[in-house]
Amino acid sequence: MKDKYSRRDFLKTGVGLSAAAMLTGGKSLLKAEGNEGKMRVVSSGNGLRATEKAMELLRQKKDPLDAVIAGVNIVEEDPNDRSVGYGGLPNEEGVVELDSSVMHGPTHNGGAVASLRNIKNPSKVAKLVMERTDHVLLVGKGALKFAKSHGFKEEDLLTERSRETWLRRKEGLSERDFWFPPQPEVEGGFASFFEYHGTINCCAIDSMGNLAGVTTTSGFFFKIPGRVGDSPIIGAGLYVDNDIGAAGSTGRGEANILNCGSFQVVNFMGMGNSPEEACLKALEQIANTSKRLPHLLNDDGRPQFGLNFYAINKKGEYGGATMWSGSRYAVHDGKENTRKPCAYLFERKRR
Ligand code: GLY
Repeated sequence: MKDKYSRRDFLKTGVGLSAAAMLTGGKSLLKAEGNEGKMRVVSSGNGLRATEKAMELLRQKKDPLDAVIAGVNIVEEDPNDRSVGYGGLPNEEGVVELDSSVMHGPTHNGGAVASLRNIKNPSKVAKLVMERTDHVLLVGKGALKFAKSHGFKEEDLLTERSRETWLRRKEGLSERDFWFPPQPEVEGGFASFFEYHGTINCCAIDSMGNLAGVTTTSGFFFKIPGRVGDSPIIGAGLYVDNDIGAAGSTGRGEANILNCGSFQVVNFMGMGNSPEEACLKALEQIANTSKRLPHLLNDDGRPQFGLNFYAINKKGEYGGATMWSGSRYAVHDGKENTRKPCAYLFERKRR
């Protein structure tokens, strides 16, 4: 039987590129020559301060993983970003549970934590899982114990604003319980709260052409305790192949986990697609597989959820794409730190 892939096709795939890099003694076929001036940092729309900070550290020749983690730490510590870290919206019991993963291109190593409570910077703990253990993912109580053994202090991550939002949601949940409906009425209704999720992803390429990424989140508002999204799942919320590129996501984690989205983005870049094309292809795949789950579809048979990918390749090219038009991503290209519109799969109808 003829091989499904020719050698050329094989080399165009991510798997082929990694294998080819091994065959050439670890020297990447795509190694960016003279990458000085091609340093890039890409992040989700809430990551403009993260891209600024990470670029500052890349200029100081810091490791790209340290750079992106320092970037997202700003957002993890910001009580006003309610999708990440301190001030993140809580689960249905009013407890903030955080997920994060990191991946380091040069060592192809990664670490992650999930359902971590009471620790502001899950991304720092994820890095320690990578550096100080032979594991990749720690969850729940084990992740908390691990963080505390490394000196992290427990603190209440629920801000007054997030507690109020949680209480209003609880009060409005049902007419068949003992809670009176919230007063005054909640602006935007409860649907908007129910849908509320966010996250920050940040990926970078340094002056040596090395890549790294981090994703960190508080996950869905009012999630079932213990729910884990895509952010701490290597291959879903984040993936880095130092020979090809880095990608990460924000948005509905369940759909992403079921499709290994960030791995797919990197794989599509390995096949020769630009970062933007690769992000769109991964979204297309997710939109197609979602057709088998009717509760995820709108009346037009399209996914009724939001999902975004952000990517950088080995040459320093970058892009972002979203399921529904309207999102932006942050990018620092070494000269300018700005937000750009994401490419999109479906155009959101104006109301
Ligand atoms: N993408 C974040 C989450 O689903 O938890």
